[in-house]
Amino acid sequence: NNHAIPIITIDGPSASGKGTVAYLAAQKLGFHYLDSGALYRLVALRALQDNIDASDEMQLAEIAGKINFSFENSLVWLDGQNVDSAIRAESCGEFASRIAHFPALRAALLQRQRDFCRLPGLVTDGRDMGSVVFPDAALKIYLTASVEERANRRYKQLKEKGINASMPNLLQMLRERDQRDSDRALSPLKQHIDAQLLDTSSLSIDEAVKQVLDSYAAAELHAR
Ligand code: DC
Repeated sequence: NNHAIPIITIDGPSASGKGTVAYLAAQKLGFHYLDSGALYRLVALRALQDNIDASDEMQLAEIAGKINFSFENSLVWLDGQNVDSAIRAESCGEFASRIAHFPALRAALLQRQRDFCRLPGLVTDGRDMGSVVFPDAALKIYLTASVEERANRRYKQLKEKGINASMPNLLQMLRERDQRDSDRALSPLKQHIDAQLLDTSSLSIDEAVKQVLDSYAAAELHAR
């Protein structure tokens, strides 16, 4: 890991808004942006397409090492096809969460994630960006919100897309996802000891982005 390249990691639970906040912070700073969850979702999508079993660690790891993807024009591409909405599907996120515990799969994605660390800097979001993938990051944030607020946000998002959802179902789904992501032995979802807590339950997106940028400015100053 090159210390000369500044990195901001934003880890946290599903539907916390960490992706939006990380993306906007990257835009403001002119940094690159990596949505690490998209990599797990891409592996899940390819596995679903190829009928790979969720228990087949070796095949899943092979997919992780081989998939040909890119993040051009703010969209996610797999073998030159736009798979942005396909990987955002709940079924894909669900499958991603079920296979993410495999060590061989995580190992296969490790270097592919680190390859995104390029000048002038990187903002990245996920579960283990600060703890495992970029332990030398200049700033580590644990971004969360209450499960009720996250369900609320997801509900509105789905409504806007014209998709019907029920709050009780969303709440249950988020709780199950949190538990699965937190309970695994390898790279579990949790606030890393050197990560700053950012609870966005009562913050707007702009306020959350500002907090990240302020914390980064403070960390920069401190490092001098
Ligand atoms: O952030 P997301 O909801 O797009 O991530 C989808 C799944 O991928 C998540 O439930 C767990 C897994 N994941 C992970 O294990 N580690 C990461 N750094 C990012 C995502």
